[in-house]
Amino acid sequence: MTVQYKFPEGFWWGSATSATQIEGAANEGGKGKNIWDYWYEIESNRFFENIGPEVTSDFYHRYKEDIKLMKEIGHNTFRMSISWARLIPGGRGEVNQDAVTFYNNVIDELLANDIEPFVNLFHFDMPMELQHEGGWENRKVVDAFVEYAKAAFELFGDRVSKWFTFNEPIVPVEGGYLYNFHYPNVVDAKRAVQVAYHTVIASAKAVEAFREFNIANGKIGIILNLTPSYPRSNNPADMKASRIADLFFNRSFLDPAVLGEYPLELIELLREHGQLPETQPGDKELIKLNTVDILGVNYYQPRRVKAKETLPNPYSPFMPEWFFDHYEMPGRKMNVYRGWEIYEKGIYDIMINLKENYGNIESFISENGMGVQDEQRFIQDDEIQDDYRIEFIREHLKWLHRAIEEGCNANGYHLWTFMDNWSWSNAYKNRYGFISVNIETQERTLKKSAHWFEEVSKNNGF
Ligand code: BG6
Repeated sequence: MTVQYKFPEGFWWGSATSATQIEGAANEGGKGKNIWDYWYEIESNRFFENIGPEVTSDFYHRYKEDIKLMKEIGHNTFRMSISWARLIPGGRGEVNQDAVTFYNNVIDELLANDIEPFVNLFHFDMPMELQHEGGWENRKVVDAFVEYAKAAFELFGDRVSKWFTFNEPIVPVEGGYLYNFHYPNVVDAKRAVQVAYHTVIASAKAVEAFREFNIANGKIGIILNLTPSYPRSNNPADMKASRIADLFFNRSFLDPAVLGEYPLELIELLREHGQLPETQPGDKELIKLNTVDILGVNYYQPRRVKAKETLPNPYSPFMPEWFFDHYEMPGRKMNVYRGWEIYEKGIYDIMINLKENYGNIESFISENGMGVQDEQRFIQDDEIQDDYRIEFIREHLKWLHRAIEEGCNANGYHLWTFMDNWSWSNAYKNRYGFISVNIETQERTLKKSAHWFEEVSKNNGF
């Protein structure tokens, strides 16, 4: 086979998951409750088909079988997260030995199969006891996070060298404090800004703590969902709208994490509207000194914006959308099964931006993927014929390949996700996996894309 798109040697082929979305066993093994367990208890009707986080894809009991499948489909790396409330049920304090055994087993099993674990510390799952104290709004929770991070480095750092502080830290800000799709469902920009700020501080402090551990070849990073912002036109008002959307949704985390400082324009904008967060002396230096070594890039879709057509009502609550309108570009390509735009070149634009403006930091695609509703309709000969997913991955990989050829420092591609999993309030609505999961029987079946990916990984290209 001729390989037209060859990737650099040692390229990371794998997939990404998160603890709450795959483990299940939410009330087993001494795990404490997190916001998802709690929200489901009090408002199960907010979850698609009323399905909650108790069982999900049962990785807690089936990790051996699942890791065998990872190996079979050519993974050399696998991104997982630790459930904070499993490791430290109360959020701070005692470590749960059952959780230590479980994560030790998973890590050892991965290594025994030549799959390198990439471990993320926070994927939307705040322990409930800490949420009762205000969650990320409360600066004390930052200290609890650092203690948790240190416990994880200490326990697993002898075998795990790639660590990540947060996955998509902007999502709990948007979901929990702006747009009402995560607990605590607050809509208040000032509180949202405080939450965002505290997660930036928490990440920097965890980076600082990481440096005190002597982890062999250790790298600490953050995983950000970057949504390149494209203006409707080149006219200055559209361009400005796009720049502001970029400030809010990308640079608010990217700049402090990688460059060690917030963009001035963002600070000025928040100041002008009375939205600056509370800070503490020394914060600036902390952020400056503790930038990440590696960046995980989650990319699904671009953000298209245009200038506001009407001035915002000054009496309506402050929102990023005061400064731009969303724009549906005519003729855009869509993933009709999820309702998201597909724009493969976005992955290249992100990488070029990292190269030109962020010191060409080492990066990789830590999530990219195609959600599909009612995917069972594509079954033929007992297998989901997900040619649309193969095309989706292939076209994104071509742009990633081009970015690498042009000198971008991107070292891997992780699909979201390994197997169909529980996606927060969308539960099992959108299926993303290489492997389909029957949630009644927990039976796993490889999709066509899994076989294709095995070949790609084996050939280090396609
Ligand atoms: C990513 C998140 O942004 O989107 C995942 O990191 C999530 O946790 C995924 O599952 C898909 O989301 P959805 O809403 O399409 O099911």
